[in-house]
Amino acid sequence: MKQDHSFYFLLLLLFNLLLQSYSEKSNGVCVSPGGRFRPFLSEGKPPRSTRDLTLCRMYKRNTCCDVSHTHSALLSIRKLASTGEANQECLHLWEVLECSLCDPDVGVKPGPPVICASFCERVFRACADAYFSMDAINQVLSPCGVGDFVCGRASEWLHNGTELCRAAGFSVKTIRDAGLSVEGASCYGGQASLDSIADSWKRSQTSTSPNNVHNGLLEDFQQWVTEMPFAERVSWVVGGLVLTVGLFFMSKRKRHRQRQMQAAIIRAARIRQLDSKTDQRPSTTQGTRKAAVR
Ligand SMILES: *[C@@H]1O[C@H](CO)[C@@H](O)[C@H](O)[C@H]1NC(C)=O
Repeated sequence: MKQDHSFYFLLLLLFNLLLQSYSEKSNGVCVSPGGRFRPFLSEGKPPRSTRDLTLCRMYKRNTCCDVSHTHSALLSIRKLASTGEANQECLHLWEVLECSLCDPDVGVKPGPPVICASFCERVFRACADAYFSMDAINQVLSPCGVGDFVCGRASEWLHNGTELCRAAGFSVKTIRDAGLSVEGASCYGGQASLDSIADSWKRSQTSTSPNNVHNGLLEDFQQWVTEMPFAERVSWVVGGLVLTVGLFFMSKRKRHRQRQMQAAIIRAARIRQLDSKTDQRPSTTQGTRKAAVR
């Protein structure tokens, strides 16, 4: 009888330990990613809710990021939009990529954000014609900025999405690494994380005040997301994100116009430069890449 008791006690203890280790795993603490990314202020603490993100607001309820992270992401997107000459789809996808850092699941894992290879391919396809440069100090690929002397189209510098994501300072999980399991359970940008973005939109929708201008749009968005096949869903999740940036851009429209003019001037200068280069340039793509890097 006494033995029975101690047996159950041991079982309970084991169960308790198991539960504890499991909950520690699922509710980790923020670990700074290193590399080109700024350290987290909330290092060693669990992801928390924050009000002052300037971008990636879908993570405002649960994130390791603070305003310094979203601000540098915002700068990156603005560079891509102006001097980078990126199209809308590229901008949307780059935003999702930059926001990976703020995903609570990403923030609690050490090392740079792990991005799904399929998502990187998508970014590469959309951004093939946008201009990027290589940061001389960090050796990191970033959108072409006003002060960058050497900028080239992504398609001229890089072969594929994996290369793009790695060059931009991210880690990439290929489908082979993921094995037979569904891609996205262990990397950012797969179906699982896009679904969780949609979920966090739903949550922030139900708790916002009635005068929130997004409300109608968000309802539509949520409904569409649930009805849509995956491929279309991706672009909708992405389109929805841009609403948050859109408002920010609107208040800065005047400055944006100045920037557009600046970009036009730079573009003209670059075209002239390219024109003088085309005369000597060989016609193979290999040659183009070399010419662009030089
Ligand atoms: C991407 O390009 C690199 C360099 O050419 C190559 O080594 C790598 O296998 C390619 N990856 C994929 C997924 O195509």
